[in-house]
Order: sequence, then C-alpha cells, then structure tokens
Amino acid sequence: MNIKISSSNPSTQSIDLLIVPVFEGRVSQFKEFSALDRDIQDAAKRENFSGKNGQTLVLYTQGKIEPYKVLFIGLGKKEELTQYQFRVSIAKASRAAKSIKAVSIGVYLHNDMSSLFTSQILAQAVTESIILSTYKFMTYKSDESKKSEREIESVFIFSSASKIQPLEEGTALGEIFAKATIEARDLINEPSSHTTPTFLAEKALSIAKESKGTVKVTVYGYQEIKKMKMESFLGVSQGSDEEPKFIELHYKPKGASKKIILAGKGITFDTGGLSLKPAEHMETMKMDMSGAASVLGVFSALYYLKPNVEIIGLIAACENMPSGKAIKPGDILKARNGTTIEVLNTDAEGRLTLADVLSYAVEMKPDAVIDLATLTGACMVALGQEIAGMWGNNKTLVSKLEEASRVTGEKLWTMPLEEDYKDLIKSSVADLKNIQTGRYGGAITAALFLSEFVGNTPWVHLDIAGPAFEERDTPLVPRGGAGFGVRTLLSYLLHL
Ligand code: BES
Ligand code: ZN
Ligand code: ZN
Repeated sequence: MNIKISSSNPSTQSIDLLIVPVFEGRVSQFKEFSALDRDIQDAAKRENFSGKNGQTLVLYTQGKIEPYKVLFIGLGKKEELTQYQFRVSIAKASRAAKSIKAVSIGVYLHNDMSSLFTSQILAQAVTESIILSTYKFMTYKSDESKKSEREIESVFIFSSASKIQPLEEGTALGEIFAKATIEARDLINEPSSHTTPTFLAEKALSIAKESKGTVKVTVYGYQEIKKMKMESFLGVSQGSDEEPKFIELHYKPKGASKKIILAGKGITFDTGGLSLKPAEHMETMKMDMSGAASVLGVFSALYYLKPNVEIIGLIAACENMPSGKAIKPGDILKARNGTTIEVLNTDAEGRLTLADVLSYAVEMKPDAVIDLATLTGACMVALGQEIAGMWGNNKTLVSKLEEASRVTGEKLWTMPLEEDYKDLIKSSVADLKNIQTGRYGGAITAALFLSEFVGNTPWVHLDIAGPAFEERDTPLVPRGGAGFGVRTLLSYLLHL
C-alpha cells in the first residue's frame, strides 16, 4: 500500500473511492464538490444523513467529479469525538472500501478536521487505521482464495498545502507503527507448531540483523537459564520437548536519557500443563505469547524511529505442556531473587515465568519496567475483551502510559494493587503460592504476585488477556492477534 499526501483538490483525482469525514450538520459545506452539490443534498435528505457518529452516505459521482464514488462518514459532534472514535470511523470506511474492491482511495482531511487534532496526529491515525483494519493473515490460505482478495494499493490523503509537512511526518510514523503492529499480529497468528521458543529467538535475531546493529540480541538456552537461577521459568518449561529460550534485546543510542525495560509473557502455547485447560479454553492459546510478540514488534520499529532512550526487551519463551516430566501441583520452585513459590495450579504459569524475568530486570536498575502479559481470564471478566488492565507502583509512569493510550486508542484501565489482598497469595509451605485463596479479584492477585519481584523499581503491569486476541472481526482488528500495546509503547517511548 502506497500512501501519499496531496494538496490538490480531491474532486480532480481519479480514484475508486473518496472518503470524506463530516461532523454533524456539516455535510453541505464543500465548495470542492459543487458539481455534485444537488446530489449530495438529495441523498442526505432521502437517507436522513446528518453526519451523526456512525452514519454513512455513499454516492456514485457519475463523472461529475473525478472520484468514482464518495463515501461520507459521520463523526457526530466535534466536541464529543475522541481519537479512538475517529480511528474506528476511518477503519470502517477502509473496510467498506476493500469490500467494494476499491484499489485506489482518498481521505479528505478538510479544514473542519484540522481544528480537531494536530495534522500529524490526524495523518498518523488515518494511516494506522487504514493499514491495520485491512490486514489479513493469509499465510495458510490456498492461492485461489488469495487471488480473489483485492488489496487497496494507493491511498491519497488530501489536505491544504500548508499542512503537507506535518501530514507527511504523521504518515511516516503511522506506517512504522502499523508495520510494527503487524509484525506482532503475524507472530500471534502463526500456529504454535511454528512459533516455538526457538522461532521467537530467531525472530529477535532477525530484527537485530535488519536493524544493522542498532538492536543487539542475546539468546540463552536451557543450560544458561539454569545458571541464571531461573528455576521458576524452567519449572513451567519442564513438561515440554521444546527448549526454553531467554531472549534479551538491547537498544542503546548514544546519550540515552533513560533506561526502560519491556518484558513480554512468551508462552508459545498454554495447555494449562497438568492443570489441563478444557478444550474450548485451549483453542486460542497460541496467543499466549502476545506480550512477547508486542515487545518484538516494538523492537522491529526502533531502527526506524531512533528514540533517545535505552530500551531492553526481555522474553522468557517456553511452552506449558503436560507430560511425565511436567511440574506437578504442590511442587515448590525458587525464583531468581530467592523467593520460593508453591505451584498449586500449573495453568497459572505466566506469573512463574515473569517472576524470573522481573527479578532479572530490576537488577539492571532501569528507570522503568513495563510488562505485557496475557495473564488472567479474570482480567477479561473484570474489563471485557477490549480493555487491558494496568497496575503500577509509580503514578508518573502510569499517567504517561494513560496519555499514550489516549492517542493510540488502545484502551487501558488503571486497577488497584490492593495491599490487603496480599494475604491471599501467601503459602503455608513457601513464600508465595501461584493461585489465590478464594474466587474473586484474580487479576489483582496476579498483579500482586508480580509486584513481589520488582521491589521499588517503577513498574507497570499490563494484563492484555482481553484485547490481545480478537475472537471476532472488529473495525481495527480482524479476527486474530491484535498486536496490542505496540503502538502505545512506541508512543510512550517517543515522548519520554
Ligand atoms: N494464559 C492464561 C490467561 C488467559 C486466559 C489469556 C484467556 C487469554 C485468554 C493464563 O496462563 C491462565 O491460564 N490463567 C489462569 C489463572 C488461574 C489458574 C489462577 C486463568 O486465568 O484461568
Ligand atoms: Zn495458563
Ligand atoms: Zn498463560
């Protein structure tokens, strides 16, 4: 897909579809379409289109202007529109464009739009929405069905000449952000037979190669992980025939102002282990490495974005399998920081791998650690499938991520690290147990468990179990991996 900024009049460009976002009551303001004015008025009246949020109006232009069709999309009242809603509107319009097999499209960012957000943010939002809404994982489709898919090949973003530069900057950022998100989506959508811990390690190495040395990667295998005293991580892995890999990515620009660690849960398949999951809960568990995929997605973009911060990515990658060698309920593991853990349910494995990752992370004395993990079904019960839970021990860090998520439209909701619930994860035979006493607040006790390994280091935990994987098509994410968190983390890293 080729995205271009154009300052020409959109009615003079011969394209298949022109998308025109409009605010409520502002449909008839376009001098550019004067040749089509009557038709617009008539159609708007007949179809009761006033520009309310979600309304759409399609017109064949019959040669009166150059674009073959025009699609007006209602944005509702200007003062009520959020960036997220704007992205969803553009995403729906690009899906519509794809379904009518449009190959060349335009989006008109007229003057009415420019007072809404900065031109850069508008162009970035449009670019990301178009690329991400029309993404499809096609690797395993037969050639026949691949052929019937028509792709949008060219996109023109029309605006006035004075805004060309910020629009171009926004588009360039949008393309990088979207590509990084797609890196993550592809990894999640690949079956786990392919996306093994070794494969994730190879992916990290290929990112390092593409970065021409900007990103350095070290991969540790079983023997080294053992020497690193990551018994808790190895406990999860021990039932599997796949070798675990501890993957460390490092980006360190000269004069970096801060050191940030990104840790991603990397369970390449979660059967639950001996505490085996029922079939319907296991169906999508190739997605249990979504946190790791997002970390890799972020690193794939660093060479192009060159943020002025040191960034370290950590992934403990393994499978969670039942077998004669698998860890058993009641077993006790010792994490790298010396904390002992009674494993009462082998399906609460993410926190076991992260215990070692976080212990290792804080030893590097970073300014912040952010972990992303498809950690608990309980977080989905609490917040549904669209919203990630956020826990943190540092207000500034939490509010920076909240700010980044408002821009990218990836929904986060801050949750409490309730000290009083800590008693629920105390074990009678070890320091901690990996499941709680009682049924309620499971996402909070999982976060509290992780907090035991970070000490005073500023830390945020994102439980992305809900938004990491879409079970149905949504406007911005087709069914499958979402690459959730990639854009929010990139935005955070660029604004530190
Ligand atoms: N990977 C799952 C969490 C999950 C569930 C992610 C659904 C995405 C969708 C995690 O390892 C898990 O199984 N957690 C258990 C914890 C329980 C045993 C305390 C859960 O949430 O049921
Ligand atoms: Zn599990
Ligand atoms: Zn899991």
